[in-house]
Amino acid sequence: MMIKFPQSFLWGAATSAYQVEGNNVNADWWQWEKKAGKEQSGKACRHYEFYKHDFDLARGLNHNAHRLSIEWSRIEPKEGEFSHNELKHYIDVILALKKRDIEPVVTLHHFTNPVWFSKLGGWEKGRSAALFSRYCDFVTRALAKHVHYWITINEPTIYISHAYILGVWPPQVKSYLKATAVEENMAWAHIKAYRAIHKIYEELRLSAPSISISQNVMAFVPCKQDLQNRFTAYLRDRLFNLGFLERIMRYDLMPHKAMDFIGVNYYSRQLVELKKFGAANIASDVCNKKHHLCEKNSLGWDIYPKGLYEVLLELEKYNLPIMITENGICTPDDDLRWKYIYGHLKYIHRAMKKGVPVMGYLYWSLIDNFEWDKGFFPRFGLIGIDYKTYKRTVRKSAKKFARVCKTGIL
Ligand code: FCB
Repeated sequence: MMIKFPQSFLWGAATSAYQVEGNNVNADWWQWEKKAGKEQSGKACRHYEFYKHDFDLARGLNHNAHRLSIEWSRIEPKEGEFSHNELKHYIDVILALKKRDIEPVVTLHHFTNPVWFSKLGGWEKGRSAALFSRYCDFVTRALAKHVHYWITINEPTIYISHAYILGVWPPQVKSYLKATAVEENMAWAHIKAYRAIHKIYEELRLSAPSISISQNVMAFVPCKQDLQNRFTAYLRDRLFNLGFLERIMRYDLMPHKAMDFIGVNYYSRQLVELKKFGAANIASDVCNKKHHLCEKNSLGWDIYPKGLYEVLLELEKYNLPIMITENGICTPDDDLRWKYIYGHLKYIHRAMKKGVPVMGYLYWSLIDNFEWDKGFFPRFGLIGIDYKTYKRTVRKSAKKFARVCKTGIL
C-alpha cells in the first residue's frame, strides 16, 4: 500500500544555535566546556557565516520547514543590554529562509544561557522566568511578522536531568531540591513567554502564532512483562515523557491556554529492568542483558521506530496537533540513516492513519554538529561537515529523504 502524507505536511530538519553557529562566547556552555576540559565548540560549523549556503542546500533537498534557535547570550550579552546587531542577524536568517520558501520554526531556549544569567543563579532563581520572558519579548516583537511557529524551551526534562540531577552539564548540580525549583521556573517561564508572545501578535494585529515546547520522549519498554517492570515503565513514561507537559497544561484554564501544539523529540527506547526498590532505581535502572537486541546509533542508543508510534498514540489524548521537532541518528553508516528515517516515517504515518494529527517532521540535524558534552564525533547530519575545511557534503540519505519531502510519498 502506498504511504502518502498530506500536502500541507511540513518537511525539513532542525539545528540549534550553539551546536552549529560557532563562537558563542557569551554562553555559559562556552566557559564550562573549557573549565570541564571538554571538547570545545569553537567555530562549530561556522553556520553563523554560512547560513545562506546551508539554506540553499536545504531548499535543494526540498525542505519546506526548518527549525533553528536564537542564542540568548548573543541577543542579551549583558543583563538588560540588548544587541540590535545580533537581532538584525537573526532577522536576516529568518528572511533567508522565507526567501527560499522555508517555514521557520524558532526555538528561544536550547540548553544554553547567557553567562550573566548563570551567575545570577540561572534557572534555580525565581527571577529566571521574568528575565527569560523579557528576552522573548524583545525577539518576538522583531520577528513576529515572519514567524508562525515558536518553541519556547527545548527539552526541559533533559536540561533539568542533565544539569541538575545527573550533574553532567553546566552548572553540574546534583540536587533534587534544586531540580524541582528549576522545573517550576521553566514551566512558569514557558507560560509567561506563551502569553507574552500571543499578546504581541494581538497588538501587532497579526494572526495568532502557534507555540509549544519541544518535549523529549522515549519508549520505555519493560524487559520482562512482569508487574514490577511494567509498572516501572509506566511510571517513567508519566514522569519523563508526560510530566512537564502536564505541568504546563495545568495552566490551561480559560481564557489562557498553555500550548497550541506539541513539539516532540524522539530518538530511542529504554529497556526497563528494576533491580531493587528505591526512587533512584525506579527512575533509572536499565536492562544490560543481551536480549531484545536491536541496531544502535554511534552513541549506543537503541533504534526502535515503533516506540514513536506508541508515544504518538499516547499523546493523542491532549487533543493538540503534533510536530516532530527532532528525530535522527548519529552513525557513520548512511544506509542505516535512511533505514532509520524510513522506519520512523512509516510509524508516524501509521499513527496518523489512527487519527493522530501530526503536522510535520523535522530531522535532527540538517548538518553534522557539536553534540554537547560528546563533542563533534557523533554525525547526525543529512549533510556532512569536514571540520578542517568546513566543506558541506550532501549525504545519500538526504537525497532519499528529499524525494519524500517533494512528493509526500514514502
Ligand atoms: C536532543 C537535543 C539536540 C541534539 C539531539 C541529538 O536531545 O535537543 O540538541 O543534541 O538530542
